Amino acid sequence: MHNLVIHAVHHDLVINAIQKKTLNTSNLNFRTLRNFAGIDSNKRDELDRGRLTIHRQDLLNQYLYSYGLMVQRQWEHTLPKTVEMLSDNKDENVHIFDYGCGQGLATLLLLENITGLEGIVDDVTLIEPSKIALQRASHIIECALPQTQVHSINKELDNLETEELSINPEKMNIHLFSNVLDIDSFDQFEVFNKILKDGGTHYVIAISSDRNFKGGSPRIEALYNAIHTYQPDENEEFKLSHAHLGRFTDSHNMNHIYFFIKIENNYYA
Ligand SMILES: C[S@@+](CC[C@H](N)C(=O)[O-])C[C@H]1O[C@@H](n2cnc3c(N)ncnc32)[C@H](O)[C@@H]1O
Repeated sequence: MHNLVIHAVHHDLVINAIQKKTLNTSNLNFRTLRNFAGIDSNKRDELDRGRLTIHRQDLLNQYLYSYGLMVQRQWEHTLPKTVEMLSDNKDENVHIFDYGCGQGLATLLLLENITGLEGIVDDVTLIEPSKIALQRASHIIECALPQTQVHSINKELDNLETEELSINPEKMNIHLFSNVLDIDSFDQFEVFNKILKDGGTHYVIAISSDRNFKGGSPRIEALYNAIHTYQPDENEEFKLSHAHLGRFTDSHNMNHIYFFIKIENNYYA
């Protein structure tokens, strides 16, 4: 029997819609995306409370239906608190990194909720182990930001090489961790070592459900504390600002944890 070609790009209804311009730069946003592809096929239970690495398009649609509004509530609560931090740049152009991006919802919500970013984003780097989620994400972000270079890294975070991130210390580097830092499948400290290795200015925003099992909030608190107590080397300047870790309960009585922080580090020869 032939294998079903369920991973083929042309079977992704979002990518199809973008190619046919049903979804296009003028109308693509979180709401139109979820209206279009948030499809309930009674498979919520297969999503491991939303944490699954999704390898089927029907489950990408189910995630958008079952968890999309939660992700939207998380970002719409947190992003207004980051406006002051994100305004604190020196007109640098922007590189957005979206770790464990899934279908790219965090980047999309960032662009929608922070006015003025769109015009200054040179690069977006999407990192995700699921090929079909990553392909959907890259089409969505390319459609939302037609002038921007979108880079896709199809990897687990533990396998990420510093060079693949291509961090330019001269840019405003925005790092998004949406519902991923809580997942106990990678070393979150190592990811930060890679981000900070070549110095630069980094704006980190992380959001997850607030829970204390299977990884969860302790992973996030440990990372936030480690950044706070970091002792720089003699040849290193390390400055933190706008640091905040908070918790909130959303309108659906779901608990969330988030932090944001600006890190400036530089090395001297
Ligand atoms: C709960 S989903 C969040 C997706 C998206 N960031 C959002 O907020 O909608 C978790 C994502 O993290 C990815 N993920 C899980 N373990 C990972 C790892 N070790 N490295 C990179 N991504 C991982 C999964 O494939 C999945 O797309």
